[in-house]
Amino acid sequence: MEKVTFSVFRGSPDEAGSPIGEMKDYTVDLDEGMVVLDVIHRIQSEEAPDLACRWNCKAGKCGSCSAEVNGKPRLMCMTRMDDIKEEMGGLEDPIDVRPMQAFPLLRDLVTDVSWAYETDKRISPIQGPEEPDWVFNQHEADRIQEFRSCIECMLCVNTCHVMREHEKFDEFAGPRFFVRLASLEMHPLDTLSRIPQIKDDFGISYCNITRCCTEVCPAGIQITDNAIIPLKERVVTEYFDPLVNPVKAVSSFTSGLFSYFTEDFPTNSDPGNTEMAKTALENERSRLEEAKKMDSQRTERARKRFQPK
Ligand code: SF4
Ligand code: SF4
Ligand code: FES
Repeated sequence: MEKVTFSVFRGSPDEAGSPIGEMKDYTVDLDEGMVVLDVIHRIQSEEAPDLACRWNCKAGKCGSCSAEVNGKPRLMCMTRMDDIKEEMGGLEDPIDVRPMQAFPLLRDLVTDVSWAYETDKRISPIQGPEEPDWVFNQHEADRIQEFRSCIECMLCVNTCHVMREHEKFDEFAGPRFFVRLASLEMHPLDTLSRIPQIKDDFGISYCNITRCCTEVCPAGIQITDNAIIPLKERVVTEYFDPLVNPVKAVSSFTSGLFSYFTEDFPTNSDPGNTEMAKTALENERSRLEEAKKMDSQRTERARKRFQPK
């Protein structure tokens, strides 16, 4: 029977909330087809019944079993031991399993993610439409469908350096909530303008498009390219595009257009990436045109439906 050794973080926070603990080694039998969560369950059943670990579905759907396995944020229930073995070139060395590092520790592998519930409450639900007989294009539905596949595992937030290193939990919504904001802002029937809040309360300019969040997303959501960059483009259009809003554009230009597309951690004086900002403006202009066209098609269809026969 093949054996595997897990080096698992065991500990709790001290009174100030800092994690106090140690890595403990456990060696158990490895069966064919096991995932990391299976091994944790075997450790609980045979070696450490008091090892705390959160999980629910064991199917990659509930987002509860997030942890750092060999330093990489992953779902324990979707991480196959065969893949770990391949990554490590064998199972001679212990496999390192720790809780998510960006969130406060509760115990062992369990962290306190209540920040996420509080942030979620700050986002208004969809507004409108008043009439029950709305229609929108498949193309518009497809765009937001991707965002609806988020399982709220918080692996993206755990990875983002704005949270993990700079601890901007109060000023920055984080990748998970830009995905949620994008699903509402790009919803063809949502009537609320979310751009001022995205800019000022949710601090989207802190994101410098490193794409680390996208790399760890188990749902495969293109967080940076499909949610964050288009939201940044909308902020830029609203506040910095002289063709769309001349007054706002003049007053905002000096306060840092390029901080929205810089590759460094943004500051207002950073010159940033001019080409990217220009392309963003062009992209958003053509999207606006397309949205206008679809909107008038929708109005026309509604008008025809309600024409007296
Ligand atoms: S792309 Fe933005 S949100 Fe994603 S990890 Fe990088 S800084 Fe954070
Ligand atoms: S966007 Fe992806 S990584 Fe972030 S919470 Fe949702 S599923 Fe998890
Ligand atoms: S237990 Fe539900 S996602 Fe892993």
